[in-house]
Amino acid sequence: MNAHVVPARAEDLPAVLALLEENQLPKEGLVEHPVAVLTLREGERIVGSAALELYGASVLLRSVAVVSGRRGEGLGKRLTREALKLARERGAERAYLLTETADGFFGRFGFRPVPRSEVSEGVRCSVEFVSACPKSARAMMVDLTERAR
Ligand SMILES: CC(C)(COP(=O)(O)OP(=O)(O)OC[C@H]1O[C@@H](n2cnc3c(N)ncnc32)[C@H](O)[C@@H]1OP(=O)(O)O)[C@@H](O)C(=O)NCCC(=O)NCCS
Repeated sequence: MNAHVVPARAEDLPAVLALLEENQLPKEGLVEHPVAVLTLREGERIVGSAALELYGASVLLRSVAVVSGRRGEGLGKRLTREALKLARERGAERAYLLTETADGFFGRFGFRPVPRSEVSEGVRCSVEFVSACPKSARAMMVDLTERAR
């Protein structure tokens, strides 16, 4: 069956939260903040997720996950590409993320390590940055503007 990247519906939230829990990714802040959640849907099943927290010209990319039985099929790349496209459509000029294990994966999209002190203020004040992610998680940033292409 083909999987499609589509915006999450309110009723998808429990499945997305379960996916985050399975992958030990933070759930905090996913519903509180102005957020865009994408799901990778296969029929009625959710096999992946990605979310954006929007802070004006900056976004926080978070909650990128693919169910363990479906990894290595290009689904994570599709989710990430769609999330960054959506970020550009919303007017974002840069995207940040925090990761402990997936630097190499996000490096494929142009994300580069950045000191936390250089992360824009809105993102730095997000729940992920302040409390939900371990201090050992590394911050990364990608420039989304034309000049970076
Ligand atoms: C990271 C994740 C989303 C990748 O999803 P995926 O569907 O397996 O990825 P894709 O199939 O699109 O891409 C696979 C490619 O990325 C590479 N890759 C996958 N996970 C990687 C990681 N953690 N670090 C470095 N490279 C990684 C694979 O080696 C593969 O390389 P190839 O194209 O040269 O063969 C998935 O492994 C996952 O859900 N991990 C748990 C949650 C997580 O850590 N999320 C990121 C933190 S926000």
